Amino acid sequence: MAVPFIDLRRFEDGFLERWAEKCAHVSANTMFVGGPENAALEKRLVEDTGVGAAVGCANGTDALQLALRAVGVEDGDLVLIPDATFWATFEAVVNVGARPVTVDIDPVDLQMDFELFCKAAEEHKPKAAILVHLYGWGSARLAEYRAYCKDKGIILIEDGAQCYGVKYKGESIYKGATISTISFYPAKVLGSCGDAGAVLCESEELANTVRLLGNHGRTSHYGHGYVGWLDFADHQTTHNEVPEPATLAL
Ligand SMILES: Cc1ncc(COP(=O)(O)O)c(C=O)c1O
Repeated sequence: MAVPFIDLRRFEDGFLERWAEKCAHVSANTMFVGGPENAALEKRLVEDTGVGAAVGCANGTDALQLALRAVGVEDGDLVLIPDATFWATFEAVVNVGARPVTVDIDPVDLQMDFELFCKAAEEHKPKAAILVHLYGWGSARLAEYRAYCKDKGIILIEDGAQCYGVKYKGESIYKGATISTISFYPAKVLGSCGDAGAVLCESEELANTVRLLGNHGRTSHYGHGYVGWLDFADHQTTHNEVPEPATLAL
């Protein structure tokens, strides 16, 4: 008998009824974008993970792009990423105009090889790096990654699209990250009905920057202090071009 890897038609008892109630409530109160339901989700994410602040957004790819921009990654910057991840990690770096440098995986830790990562950091002087907690695996060297990046002034972003609920040293793996991202794509650990994502931040200040960028750079209702999203014409790359990454292999 073939057992499907993911069966999105299976729901817990009472789920569809609760879902219908929520949809009716959201529709009756026209809370289609943002609003109290979104704020309640953000609050719940903070309580559940122990991070400083959470900002809901359109999906896990946008979450990565918002995180990259919020920490100041821009045109021409280099970003270290693992060479085993979902394509969106690579894509997000390219979409903000930066250049990914892929680093090979340690076959035991299943994260980037730490020594290779340090070598790549020395060689390429990246502005940022992205760790990916793929398949819910937390690297045994996570604390070393965080400390090393802090020491070297490399901003560490953690792509947590696949690791909701994972604990590291008894606490949510998102806690302790400067900035991390979640995907609520329906097939993810915490799947939504449609696309959704979130950026989790250690500080409220960083979360505010994410909020601004995710809302057209809005500083007041009719005031726009930033360009909230990027214009592809400004970049050398286009949707159709895949830039050649600099690769560091074992
Ligand atoms: C590791 C990783 N990063 C980012 C994403 C992007 O998330 P989304 O599909 O919500 O844009 C995914 C989703 O598949 C993922 O697995």
